[in-house]
Amino acid sequence: MDVRQKWDQRYGDTDYEPSSEPSPFLTEATATLTPGTALCLAAGDGRNAVWLARASWSVTAVDISAKGLEWCQRYAREEGVTINTIEADLASFDLGHQQWDLITMIFFNDPALFPSVRQSLRPGGHFLFHTFSVGQRRQKWGPSNAAFLARRQDLEDGFGDWPWPRFGDDDYARSDGRIESSLRLLATNPPNTNPADTDRPSSD
Ligand SMILES: C[S@@+](CC[C@H](N)C(=O)[O-])C[C@H]1O[C@@H](n2cnc3c(N)ncnc32)[C@H](O)[C@@H]1O
Repeated sequence: MDVRQKWDQRYGDTDYEPSSEPSPFLTEATATLTPGTALCLAAGDGRNAVWLARASWSVTAVDISAKGLEWCQRYAREEGVTINTIEADLASFDLGHQQWDLITMIFFNDPALFPSVRQSLRPGGHFLFHTFSVGQRRQKWGPSNAAFLARRQDLEDGFGDWPWPRFGDDDYARSDGRIESSLRLLATNPPNTNPADTDRPSSD
C-alpha cells in the first residue's frame, strides 16, 4: 500500500473522527502575525488550516489524500470559511516563488522540502514547523520510525541563517494528558532591505 492509499484508508475509515483542535504551537506562535497568504503542507483533515482561515489568513491546504481534504472542506464549510485545497504529492508539488506569508509543516517531517519552502516564502514571511522529535521514542506512543521524527540538525541546516522568534525542543503535556516530544519552530525570512531586490520601479 502506498502513502496515498494508507492515508485515504485512514481518513475514509467509518470510525475516523477528525480533530478540530489546532496545534497549540500554531495558535500561540501566529497570534502576533499579520494575516496574509498561508500554505499548509500535508494539511490532512484541516484542523490547522481552518483555524488559520478563521483567523483571517487566506489559506491553501495541500495533501496527498483526497479523503483528508474532504474532511478539510467539510470542516471549513461548518465554520463558514473558505479554503483552497490541492490534492498533490509534495514530492513533486511546486510551492512557487516568494508568494506565501506563512508556510506550515505540522506533524509531517520532510526536510527535503526546506529549500523550496525558503524560496517560496516572501521576505518577512514565516515558516512554522511542529512535529514529533527523535525524543518521542522515549514515550510509549506515537511514531518510532526515524523518517517521521524530526531532528534539530535538519532545522539548523535548513533555516539556521534566519531569525527564530520561537523555538522549542522538549517534552510537554498535551491537552489529552499524553506527553509529546516535539520540535517547534517559527523561522522568519528576513525582510528585504536591499532596494535593488524589490519590485519597486527605480526613480531614474
Ligand atoms: C499526521 S498527518 C498530519 C495532518 C495535519 N498536518 C495535522 O497536523 O493535523 C500527515 C499528513 O501528511 C499527508 N502526507 C503524507 N505524505 C504526503 C505527501 N508525500 N504529500 C502530501 N501529503 C502527504 C497525509 O495524507 C496526512 O494527511
